[in-house]
Amino acid sequence: MERNLNVVLIAVLAFVAGFLAANIFHYGFGSYMPYQQYRLPNKAEYSSNGEMIFMTGVNDRGERIPFTAGPQWLYMHGGGCASCHGDDGKGGIYPMMCGIKTPDIRYSTLNKTHGMSKEDIIRAITKGVGDEGEELDLCMPRWQMSEKDINDVLEYLKQLG
Ligand code: HEC
Repeated sequence: MERNLNVVLIAVLAFVAGFLAANIFHYGFGSYMPYQQYRLPNKAEYSSNGEMIFMTGVNDRGERIPFTAGPQWLYMHGGGCASCHGDDGKGGIYPMMCGIKTPDIRYSTLNKTHGMSKEDIIRAITKGVGDEGEELDLCMPRWQMSEKDINDVLEYLKQLG
C-alpha cells in the first residue's frame, strides 16, 4: 500500500516538473516578468526614433524606455506618449486607471501657450515637474531617457505642431 502511494507521488511530481519545463521551454523565463509581456514594435513602421518612442515607448535600438510612476497597465502592456496624449499629441484623453485628463503636449502649445522652455519640457518628461514647478500627477510616467532619445522626442513634438 505504502509503495503504491510513493508511485503515485512520484508520478504527480514528474507531471508537475514536466509541465513547468514545457512552459518555460515554450514561453521562456521572460514571460514570467510582467515588464516584458508584450511584443516589441517594428522599427520599420516609424519614420524616426522620436516618432517610435512617442508611439510605443521603445526606441529604434529596441530598448524599452524605463520609467517610474505611471499606471500599472503601462508596465504590463507597454505604450508610449500616444497611449495617453493621443496620436496627435493634443491630449484630452482620460487614460485608464488615472482619473485625470491629459494635456496637449505639442511643442508649440507647451512652448508658446505655457511658456515652457526646452529645459522645462525635459524636466516635465523626465522628472514629472509641471510648468509652474508643481509635481505632476503620478499618472504621468517619469521617463529615464538618454539625451539623444529625449532630443528626438522633442523634435517629434515639434513636428506635431
Ligand atoms: C499613462 C499616461 C501617460 C503617458 C504614457 C504619458 N503621459 Fe505625459 N502626462 C500624463 C498626464 C495625466 C499628464 C498631466 C499631469 C498633471 O496635470 O498633473 C501629463 C503631462 C505631461 C506633460 C506636462 C505638460 C504641461 O503642460 O505641464 C508633458 C510635457 C508630457 N506629459 C509629456 C509626455 C511625453 C513626451 C510622453 C512620452 C514619452 C508622455 N507624456 C507619456 C499622462 C501620460
